[in-house]
Amino acid sequence: MTDPTRTPAWQALSAHADTLRTAHLRELFAADSERFQHLSLEVDNLLFDFSKQRLNSQTISLLAELARSRGVRDWFQRMISGEKVNASEQRAALHMALRSNRTDPLFVDGKDVMPGIRLNRQRMRDFCEAVRSERLRGYSGEPIRAIVNIGIGGSDLGPRMATSALQAYAHPSLKIFYVSNLDAADLAPRLAELDPRTTLFIITSKTFTTLESITNAGTARNWLLAAAGDAADAAMAQQFVAVTANAGAALNFGVSANRIFEFCDWVGGRFSLWSAVGLPLALAIGMDAFEELLSGAEAMDQHVLTAPEEKNLPLLMALIGIWNINFLRAWNLSISPYSQSLHYLPDYLQQLDMESNGKSRQPDGTPVGVHTAPVLWGGAGSNTQHAYFQLLHQGGWLIPSDFIAFAESDFPLPGHHDKLLANCLAQAEALAFGNDQDDPLRACAGNQPSSMLLFRRLTPFALGQLLAAYEHKICAQAAIWGINPFDQWGVELGKKLAVRLLPALESGVDETVDSSTRGLIHWLKKRSPAP
Ligand code: F6P
Repeated sequence: MTDPTRTPAWQALSAHADTLRTAHLRELFAADSERFQHLSLEVDNLLFDFSKQRLNSQTISLLAELARSRGVRDWFQRMISGEKVNASEQRAALHMALRSNRTDPLFVDGKDVMPGIRLNRQRMRDFCEAVRSERLRGYSGEPIRAIVNIGIGGSDLGPRMATSALQAYAHPSLKIFYVSNLDAADLAPRLAELDPRTTLFIITSKTFTTLESITNAGTARNWLLAAAGDAADAAMAQQFVAVTANAGAALNFGVSANRIFEFCDWVGGRFSLWSAVGLPLALAIGMDAFEELLSGAEAMDQHVLTAPEEKNLPLLMALIGIWNINFLRAWNLSISPYSQSLHYLPDYLQQLDMESNGKSRQPDGTPVGVHTAPVLWGGAGSNTQHAYFQLLHQGGWLIPSDFIAFAESDFPLPGHHDKLLANCLAQAEALAFGNDQDDPLRACAGNQPSSMLLFRRLTPFALGQLLAAYEHKICAQAAIWGINPFDQWGVELGKKLAVRLLPALESGVDETVDSSTRGLIHWLKKRSPAP
């Protein structure tokens, strides 16, 4: 694919950016009294206001032209039709099929994948009902009270984030925990507080080879089997579940065949919440609510596939991101959900965006020629106002923000929600317009761009819409930059080096390593306890 900067659409945007780069949002609002009406969009009760971005209607037309010239809508059609859009791994990327209610077949390598998707959903439903109704019990006959998901990256961040987001819908007597880190400080305190008779483990790993997850799973298995004693077989059969694309490895680990939930290699880990990877979430909120989440995402899929470029919400999010990164040179993106329940959203989006688009080469090895994924970070408002917002207001960096808020709270304690919303709107306003202070220490220059996503309430449907919108945003950006958002070769090198360094840390120094790493190993070995 050609370097995007060589296209006429990109060049037209560059020239246009020269006229807008120094414009202040105050002037842009003064120039158009209906700016909000012109630069906002509502889709299925989701309001997207991008009027506080540093752009105008002409920018949107030029960006839409860029999307057309890069064939973005065609790329989505290729994705949903099962084409192998993940070129480097020769795989389809069918996360949209996982939330689809389509009745027509969808072929991958000559096989219709829809019956398998429906069967998996039915298996998830049966399993959730068995646990939630206390039919499925632990080795001693006690009902399950705690579920521990062991996984990392895409096998952790999605369900962890969504379980917190939908905490208002959770089963009252099931506690869901997530353990991801190799550091024993993650698993050990969990095990210390859990009762082996009433704890169910879900090992979620697409490959079932990931060092962190297999190490934690092994420790959890030892803990459970030691407690179960003579009932070890029953404990293993009842209380260990695997969610994986590598059923053979899960069987070898000791998980019973009827406790293995499979998903296919055409689902990327960070796009897999919609598959059985969502099992701990489904256990928490029930399968009906889980299917509402799928419906919200499916509604966003229909929208992205059919809405014209200028009215296509995820595509506009993508184009505005490209405008900020490549034309206004704003390399960061701050994610600000004004919702404690969504406090894991920035972590989840960090993987989704930075692992998908943190690339500088097109699939044929050609350099992209421009910056790609933003450095994405954030946290739940209003906490963040008392942490890093100072830098956004006066630090001198150009940092766009996405604000996310809800008209109604799930936890209606009087006197909270209006104050929260007032703070959310106030921050977006302050960032955009700043103040007129003469005192340089109190002056806020403003002109910091932001978008606002508003929903009625944080329901499973709304969460589905929100997450699918970000997925599509990221895929649309990849299509424009000409990169493959579905592989992650960059993470392999560090994993390989860790395998090589482990023996050196355990027994002695590997003389082949560089002097810095050798010095660090020496220092650590001298201070670590003897085995
Ligand atoms: O190291 C990166 C990665 O491969 C992610 O893409 C993935 O989500 C994570 O590791 C976990 O992989 P798995 O589900 O195979 O354990």
